[in-house]
Amino acid sequence: MKLWMALYVSQASLDLTPAALTALVTRAQAKNALSGITGGLMYYRGRFMQVIEGDHDAVQQCLARIGNDTRHHDMTVVYNGPLATRRFGEWTMREIYAQRENEPVVDDFWRRLVDEHDDQALRTAVTLMQRLAQQDTAPR
Ligand SMILES: Cc1cc2nc3c(=O)[nH]c(=O)nc-3n(C[C@H](O)[C@H](O)[C@H](O)COP(=O)(O)O)c2cc1C
Repeated sequence: MKLWMALYVSQASLDLTPAALTALVTRAQAKNALSGITGGLMYYRGRFMQVIEGDHDAVQQCLARIGNDTRHHDMTVVYNGPLATRRFGEWTMREIYAQRENEPVVDDFWRRLVDEHDDQALRTAVTLMQRLAQQDTAPR
């Protein structure tokens, strides 16, 4: 198995409530469990950021499915490459509803991640998502 990670950002087509995010993620978790995918999906003020981890081929198939989904658009894949160890190994897809994060800080870092292809911003993104994933409730 060639362990792989993809990270993308996109624009949501609709405003999502926490319940709508949960519904989307519940479906994703069922599919991911079948293909050994783990990761996190953050929704933040109308935007998604998602980390997808697993076997190379499974990650590419998952990305392709997600890319065809009309519930979001303007998908930008920031990273699609090898991974040493899973960061979200406990979660078939951890939902992170980040509406209350510090807005200017997150906006600035989002811009650097997408516009400047900044390695530091990529590491920060994964670390931020891991940290938020650890907050509230048990692994699902
Ligand atoms: C932001 C976003 C994240 C998604 N994440 C996943 C995912 O991690 N795994 C997955 O299988 N589908 C994911 N989906 C859903 C797929 O795009 C697609 O709807 C689903 O795989 C189709 O499954 P079904 O037709 O069998 O219900 C995501 C969709 C969106 C909009």
